[in-house]
Amino acid sequence: ERLLKGRDVLTWGDYTSSEIEQLLESAAQLKEKQQKGIPHQPLAGRSLGMIFENASTRTRVSFEVGMTQLGGHALFLSSADLQIGRGEPIQDTAKVLSRYIDGLIIRANDHEKVKHLAESSDVPVINALTDLYHPCQALADMLTIQEHKGSLKGRKIVYVGDGNNVAHSLMIIAAKLGLNITLSTPEGYEGTESIWTEAKKIAMETGSKVEHVVNPKEAVKDADVIYTDVWVSMGAEKEEEERGKVFERYQVDETLMSLADTEAIFMHCLPAHRGEEVSSAVIDGPHSVVYEQAENRLHVQKAILQAVFK
Ligand code: CP
Ligand code: NVA
Repeated sequence: ERLLKGRDVLTWGDYTSSEIEQLLESAAQLKEKQQKGIPHQPLAGRSLGMIFENASTRTRVSFEVGMTQLGGHALFLSSADLQIGRGEPIQDTAKVLSRYIDGLIIRANDHEKVKHLAESSDVPVINALTDLYHPCQALADMLTIQEHKGSLKGRKIVYVGDGNNVAHSLMIIAAKLGLNITLSTPEGYEGTESIWTEAKKIAMETGSKVEHVVNPKEAVKDADVIYTDVWVSMGAEKEEEERGKVFERYQVDETLMSLADTEAIFMHCLPAHRGEEVSSAVIDGPHSVVYEQAENRLHVQKAILQAVFK
């Protein structure tokens, strides 16, 4: 029996702490099997459709390779080449694809569109990044922190920069798993209010803390993890110049790292812009775990696929 058979993965807010912990455990097991060369093909003969409205390196390749390792097959479906690109309703696309394939991932600008796809689809839908969330990234990040710190509960993550999709998913998953999280963003870039409300509510239940601190130097005190992401997300390109100014003092550099715990790790979901949100000395330095994060996308997504396929 599959762990979460038939479930969509749009945001970790829909999952219990224990379900997320089980996925992490399963990801760690799959990682060990892959590293030891032990075959694991529970999805033999199954197919995954991968709809992308936007560019991707990690998500696309790790899902496709992950399906292959699980014994199945993945199809890359650029939305520009699908009939969606010519106006076919997402509902029809979902109904039709559900007759051919066993699961769907989608990267889209508009989270509402992904919700509609999930409602119409008869197979599980996994969020591969929207304007609001990046759940697969956040799960990979938790595996990475666990590997480095040994445990998750009570750890302090400080996310510095733009309160975006990556920050939102980190807040939700951190609260679910009992980590304390501080977002340090300029005023007006805190992120979505309803997601703050949700994260704080979850944190009340699990005993974690979710906070906002404007000054990054103050925020990073005692941090076990310093995390940042791009200042200009996909879709916000027009604001590039303005954002460059607004975020200037939010660059994660060696000075900022030195104010955190001496054993703090540096994280970034990638792609990164050296000299903007992070200095080369930090991302290419001894505290950085960014390539491990990228690798862990593969292992956690395999765990998700294995758990949700019907
Ligand atoms: N981190 C991440 O999702 O990377 P891609 O945009 O390359 O998929
Ligand atoms: N916040 C970034 C993440 C890319 C993986 C974006 O939305 O472009």
